[in-house]
Amino acid sequence: MIENLEQQNLRSRGQTDFWIREQCQELILSDRQIEELMRRMILEINRGLRKETHPAADVKCFITYVQDLPNGKEKGKFLALDLGGTNFRVLLIHLKDENDFEMLSKIYAIPQSIMLGSGEQLFDHIAECLANFVKEHSVYDERLPLGFTFSFPLTQLGLTKGILARWTKGFNCSGVVGEDVVQLLKDAIARRGDVSITVMAILNDSTGTLMSCAHSNHNCRIGVIIGTGSNACYVEKVENCELFDGYMDPTKQHVLINTEWGAFGDNGALDFVRTEYDREIDHFSINPGRQIQEKMISGMYMGELARLAIVKFTKAGLLFGGVGSDILFKRGQFFTKYVSEIESDKPGTYNYCRDVLDELGLEHATDEDCANVRYICECVSSRAAHLVSAGIAALINKMDEKSVTVGVDGSVYRFHPKFHDLMTQKIRQFVKPGISFDLMLSEDGSGRGAALVAAVACREPH
Ligand code: GLC
Repeated sequence: MIENLEQQNLRSRGQTDFWIREQCQELILSDRQIEELMRRMILEINRGLRKETHPAADVKCFITYVQDLPNGKEKGKFLALDLGGTNFRVLLIHLKDENDFEMLSKIYAIPQSIMLGSGEQLFDHIAECLANFVKEHSVYDERLPLGFTFSFPLTQLGLTKGILARWTKGFNCSGVVGEDVVQLLKDAIARRGDVSITVMAILNDSTGTLMSCAHSNHNCRIGVIIGTGSNACYVEKVENCELFDGYMDPTKQHVLINTEWGAFGDNGALDFVRTEYDREIDHFSINPGRQIQEKMISGMYMGELARLAIVKFTKAGLLFGGVGSDILFKRGQFFTKYVSEIESDKPGTYNYCRDVLDELGLEHATDEDCANVRYICECVSSRAAHLVSAGIAALINKMDEKSVTVGVDGSVYRFHPKFHDLMTQKIRQFVKPGISFDLMLSEDGSGRGAALVAAVACREPH
């Protein structure tokens, strides 16, 4: 039978879709793989908690020394610093009532030269921003308590002492790993000599998220970040924390744990689900071999994962008639926000998708290309959502409470149109029968959370 041109096109279109779907299979996690991921995550968490296995564990489970959740009565004015997300911010927070607080904040750029420069430059810059901020807001001489949200792995030796274990995300300042970050901040402030600050606590953004949600929802026991990086904090029994150092108050049976689950997989535990795209991202990153799970999930990498798949299929002639563009072929030029935008199009329409492809110089894309690009984005983002879900379900089952609220923050969770639903569905599938949970968007965990940790710390006789 002789096919006419249209039939031939249809046939080859069907084949292109088929090949792309076929090759994207490796990005789809099966339920069995998720079960295995949960099992391995728990193993690593327990290894992180135990003294003997902690040094070699990849999920370190750092003790935060935060032992009190907010009771809703925290009040007063606090300063906060927030370093480690998309922006560096200084904040002034006035906690008034459980549901009433005021927050003033200012974003300061951290140029790449500082992110990759010396620690002294970084902390001088932070101190300068802080000094300018307190002057601008005339709280210069109030000596307000400060909470420092420092979103990197810290070995904490108390609420106000944290030794940097490693840099993550885009940072790599010299002379900071192995040092007490609070001390570096205090030294920088002292070098200036024009402001006086009381650092009440140093904390992780996942801890801030948990605290911020717990302030209004007393059921919150887990805080999760899916932003530039990815991490989780949860409430653990002190008796399981062999590395708890110092005085243990017998009236306090729990402590928050900063899991640093972004490093899950650094020992090879995720190799059974990693793809060539993951290996390439890792290879070209500033921290090869590290933060393996984070590189499969978070905003710093998700767009690049999609780009690598799109590039591969373009070069194989399966997308854009085999014709790419300079921007498409350049590393880092497919932003994670594009994934969210492309997936925001109504089914069968490609308005956002075309905007993105136009920006990339791919005006020649057909509707079929758009559908396939969208499919690739869906595979990448669903895998990320499912990896996070495996971690959350594992934590919920480990905690074994009847009902748990999970506070979630971060740009990916906030802006991706389906992340919340994908997570809710997957977690439901894997939590033990009889346990109920809900996911709650956190209200500025890094800012309000820092004020709350500082407020809770002010209650303590130190
Ligand atoms: C990285 C950091 C971690 C932080 C997370 C989210 O994983 O190591 O401390 O919580 O990013 O910002």
